[in-house]
Amino acid sequence: MYKQQPQGFRDFRRPGAWRGYETYWDMPWDLQRVHPLAPTERLLKPWKIALLAVAAVLALALTIGLLAYFLVFDQQLFYYNGNFKVMGIPNSDDLARRASSEFRELSRRIEKQIDNTFVDSSLRKKYIRSHVIRLSPDPSGVVAQVVLVFLFCMDNRPALREKVESVLQQKLNQYSGPLQIHFSSSTFSDIKKEKAEALFNDFCGLRRNKSKSVRTSNRVVGGVSSAEPGDWPWQASLQQNNVHRCGATLVSNTWLVSAAHCFAQSSNPHVWSVTFGTVLYPPRIKRYVQAIIMHEKYQYPANNYDIAVVKLSERVEFTNIVHHVCLPDSTQTFPYNSDAVVTGWGALDDGRPGPNVLREATVKLIDPDTCNRKEVYNGIITPGMLCAGYLEGGIDACQGDSGGPLVTPDSRGMWYLVGIVSWGHECAKPNKPGVYTRVTYYRDWITSKTGL
Ligand code: ARG
Repeated sequence: MYKQQPQGFRDFRRPGAWRGYETYWDMPWDLQRVHPLAPTERLLKPWKIALLAVAAVLALALTIGLLAYFLVFDQQLFYYNGNFKVMGIPNSDDLARRASSEFRELSRRIEKQIDNTFVDSSLRKKYIRSHVIRLSPDPSGVVAQVVLVFLFCMDNRPALREKVESVLQQKLNQYSGPLQIHFSSSTFSDIKKEKAEALFNDFCGLRRNKSKSVRTSNRVVGGVSSAEPGDWPWQASLQQNNVHRCGATLVSNTWLVSAAHCFAQSSNPHVWSVTFGTVLYPPRIKRYVQAIIMHEKYQYPANNYDIAVVKLSERVEFTNIVHHVCLPDSTQTFPYNSDAVVTGWGALDDGRPGPNVLREATVKLIDPDTCNRKEVYNGIITPGMLCAGYLEGGIDACQGDSGGPLVTPDSRGMWYLVGIVSWGHECAKPNKPGVYTRVTYYRDWITSKTGL
């Protein structure tokens, strides 16, 4: 608000009003104050300066924040579908079967070559992954259908596609390695997110938006950490009266694999239910059980043949939060000493109740000779069992994790079920690693019951 001059006050802002004094400094102090040249009137008051500084800092922070947001967070996934012609591959019927070692090996090589193509290019920071969807043998080679995923922060579709195409065109055709991949833009197109997700949902063992290796999180403290939604989409909880009893693993829209000992007290399907999602209460999805098939040779309390399959009364549709893991071929091998991940809602301390949020722990596969050593399990590990953990102790599955998955990724970032949590001498004790049901050993049994 404007402040009125007091009556009788000489207004020194009027021209000539200050005449009569030699200099400005000769004026009495209270007249100096209102004179147009008065230094106090020209300089800002300290509180005003502070206020302006704060406002300037705030404005700067806001600009930087918005800029960072648009550059870093406002990025979108873009999907492309392309058919690539691969030359110099001996024709084989097995190539068309996704579970075959031929399909897996050739897909791995194609994906690797596409990875390399983008790693060497200006799009290296935008490229997420590529995934071979289908291989179709054809007289002059093999046609590979591949979905490529990018993270871009602008939405100029034609320009982006042209950029991706030109990298593929230039670099892919230049490779002189054993694998000759020919790219033609005529079969290269953008696809919608929904379409790409549907294609990916057909695939087992994919953790969406996750990197390909075991060491996925730096959240691991003491080897055990909480999972986030979609981290382990195949993990299920087997419950009685809404109380978690055991883990289980989704291997198709209707079938789960679990441990036989979970059903030692009751194998009546009507008393069991299954939930999905990383949080137990409230669950994301709940299903009832139609059938429970325990291994015929399983005998409580012995630890052999500790496997069962569970059929849901209603199928679950796959999403990136809930879908199936890959079952290994019976001949597939997983190197000892390599990393695997076990997940579950089991006790964090032997004897205490478990958590509400799914936990994950990285363990090492231990070879049977080591596991059968006198000071370890002294010869009681049979060929249908697999040890995993650490001889020094500390990280392990525990009560309540039973029936749940032990998984490892292949080089394409697809996760395989290698073990089922079965037993152990207490939890995380030195020389007493976890013992798992060896899935490859029972692979044919699983097929005989489920057709998978
Ligand atoms: N039998 C236990 C259960 O019913 C699982 C034990 C696993 N123990 C271990 N130390 N890895 O949940």
